[in-house]
Amino acid sequence: MSDRLIVEQAWDALEHSIIYYQGRPVGTIAACDPDISALNYDQCFIRDFVSSALVFLIKGRTDIVRNFLEETLKLQPKTGQLDCSKPSRGLMPASFKIASQGGKEYVKADFGNHAIGRVAPADSCLWWIVLLRAYVIASQDTDLAHQADFQEGIRLSLELCLVTRFDMYPMVLVPDGAGMIDRRMGLYGHPLDIQALFYAALQASLELLVPSPENQFMIQAIQSRLVPLLRQIRENYWLDSDRLNVIYRFQVEEYGEEALNQFNIYSDSIPFYRLANWLPEAGGYLAGNLGPSQLDCRFFSLGNLLAVITSLVDEQQSHRILNLIELRWSDLVSHMPMKLCYPALEDTDWKIVTGADPKNRPWSYHNGGSWPVLLWMLTAAAKKMDRGELAHHAIAIAERRLVLDQWPEYYDGPDGRLIGKEARKYQTWTIAGYLLAKELIANPDHLKLVTFDPVLPG
Ligand code: GLC
Repeated sequence: MSDRLIVEQAWDALEHSIIYYQGRPVGTIAACDPDISALNYDQCFIRDFVSSALVFLIKGRTDIVRNFLEETLKLQPKTGQLDCSKPSRGLMPASFKIASQGGKEYVKADFGNHAIGRVAPADSCLWWIVLLRAYVIASQDTDLAHQADFQEGIRLSLELCLVTRFDMYPMVLVPDGAGMIDRRMGLYGHPLDIQALFYAALQASLELLVPSPENQFMIQAIQSRLVPLLRQIRENYWLDSDRLNVIYRFQVEEYGEEALNQFNIYSDSIPFYRLANWLPEAGGYLAGNLGPSQLDCRFFSLGNLLAVITSLVDEQQSHRILNLIELRWSDLVSHMPMKLCYPALEDTDWKIVTGADPKNRPWSYHNGGSWPVLLWMLTAAAKKMDRGELAHHAIAIAERRLVLDQWPEYYDGPDGRLIGKEARKYQTWTIAGYLLAKELIANPDHLKLVTFDPVLPG
């Protein structure tokens, strides 16, 4: 099938996923699979909608994105409360749907109070800010972002993230399952995927917040957080050959300000021999999580790709991440771009870390499955670094399968050859992710919707 036909079919499917509220388009549902029970896939997820929204913005369909931003902003709780049965002030829901009562439509939000595992999302408010900035760039409608309710929405989301809690780090502290991976996967604390998004949201907020007396405190808080966060990620999450050598010989139990091994990482917790084999000299990447005596060496695509796109990592690191993807293509891309994380947790690790979750068994779903939505992030990262050939290659691989397989949510197996065991078909962000990748490769000017100027580490 020609790529023109694939694009046409993708557009039809994307149109079909649009949901309406009081006659206005306000979002896209997660999946339109006629064969599997919908559970919550008939809802509009904030994180899923970002891929659709970027395609709509590129195509000049700014109305749907504006409506989405307005409606979701109304769902965000604005008052403080100590009642744990209510969502916190500033939280954005994971998803919402249009329900009706007595013939009247209303928007019903899920803050994690209905979701499987009852996980509250930390990423929704961050994606919302990143999307608002993309909307402003695409539409030039700065007035919307400058409205008092939008300024308040940004402030409240950031308050939730910037508050000092039981933590002394510049990263944001979150529970397990607080992002795209919304199940237990050993991502409590400071998972990279959330930190990269946090960085993007901080940068976006600096552009969006008007320098008013009301915003002054927040602007200062962001400015003082950006550089320490950037340094922490670039220095302490970074893994390459040189860094492995340093960690291998780390002293432990150091006390005080001069400690080199700040997180007290024990050498025995790092799979050095596997990594030394796997990590090419020219490659490098950001670790999946960092905390007290914890350095999670799994590769997470979303965080690494976003770090390249947003310039959270520097030029050289960006190239090294792309080198790794290129040189370990058969592990990270293989038959479908691309792995959500690598490698999978197996055996006792799988049991202990996931709670023996059958949906996340080794090489399936979040645990080493392949997610076509990541195609647009791979394309954006590659194109930004002038390595378009990687993106072309990945898109060609995806094109061979996606339509035939009816746009699955994810693929299973170490090489991504199996359609995901419980994957929904006609998954909207798979469809939108493909369309977005095609748009970004055709016109790299659209990258400006998601890229940021580098910040100097100082
Ligand atoms: C799954 C994914 C989550 C996604 C949702 C809807 O729960 O883990 O990231 O937002 O499905 O597609």
